[in-house]
Amino acid sequence: MSKIFVDACKGKKTPYTPVWMMRQAGRYLPEYMAVRNEAGDFLSLCKDPEKACTVSLQPIDIVGVDAAIMFSDILVVPLEMGMDLKFIKGEGPVFPFPIETMEDIEKLDVQKASKNLEYVYETIRLIRGKLEADKALIGFCGAPWTLATYMIEGQGTKTYAKVKKLIYTKPKLMHALLKKVSEALKLYLENQIKSGADVVMIFDSWAAALEESAYFEFSWNYVKEITSFLKSKYPDTPIIVFPKGISGYLDKIDGDFDVFGVDWSTPIELAKEKLGHKYVLQGNMEPTRLYSKDAIKEGVEKIVNVMKDERHIFNLGHGILPDVPVENAKYFIKTVQETTKNL
Ligand code: CP3
Repeated sequence: MSKIFVDACKGKKTPYTPVWMMRQAGRYLPEYMAVRNEAGDFLSLCKDPEKACTVSLQPIDIVGVDAAIMFSDILVVPLEMGMDLKFIKGEGPVFPFPIETMEDIEKLDVQKASKNLEYVYETIRLIRGKLEADKALIGFCGAPWTLATYMIEGQGTKTYAKVKKLIYTKPKLMHALLKKVSEALKLYLENQIKSGADVVMIFDSWAAALEESAYFEFSWNYVKEITSFLKSKYPDTPIIVFPKGISGYLDKIDGDFDVFGVDWSTPIELAKEKLGHKYVLQGNMEPTRLYSKDAIKEGVEKIVNVMKDERHIFNLGHGILPDVPVENAKYFIKTVQETTKNL
């Protein structure tokens, strides 16, 4: 059976514009909180395929989205390469022993990561087994640059001082780390596809930290290497890229992928002008519009007006926030599906 979301990724005409939300399996859903509390904490939930499957399917059943995204986190890859990882309440993820030297990089284990991530592959198999045939399952990973930033800074950062110092003082060390992470990600995404992911997405959340030349050297080149590798082996599996906040660099974006994720700060008109002829665009409603039904309706209509004759997948321009009312999330999905019918 054909999947409307997969068809849209391939640029085919669909009965309406498919829609999902980044971070759709998460804390705004009381049903998610119940399962997370049962699991104990966030990482235990990621490592429990049955429970991870349950929360992945919740947004399909409760909110009515057109695709499920597997429940996991981008940081399980550095974790399984051998780094200690903690999620601290109120602070987010922390690596207590960040990468500092070449020896630290040498200790990271690509093969071990690919094997230890079996709980993710099992989650995918369980979801695919339960998901209706016409709904798509999205697998994902973080971009090498975003993962390396966490691995070097040890946590979220406002200045990126440690990682950028490495770029300009020890570029070889930085490239060695990016190369190793990229190798792990190739195997990881390949295993996700083999386990049943219909589409894969690469999140580059910290792309906007870099000036243009550094962005292409330290981030985009590695993303492109991963997508070329996957396309050479799995030409039929659509790939979505999401480099957040790089509206100034769109002219130079190229590569072997299908869908470009547009973040909320990039005008959708600009993305359409620069990339709409080459790629399907995904996005990009400002996530905080979800606090108001009027703002949702206006936001959806604005984007539909620009994208109505173009290849498009509807999404937020970044993740849904934990205090958004579920009723508003449902309203957003329904509004997109109804507004775009028979366009
Ligand atoms: O529903 C989905 O989108 C699938 C699951 C998913 C999560 N994280 C679950 C999660 C996905 C795709 C991610 C990606 C991710 N994780 C990114 C890239 C996307 C982005 O948002 O830019 C990044 C940068 C991370 C790293 C990360 N994980 C942070 C910064 C945090 C803490 C932030 C916060 O909101 O507290 C996490 C934890 C996390 N990952 C949660 C969820 C549902 C919250 C954990 C909880 O239940 O307390």
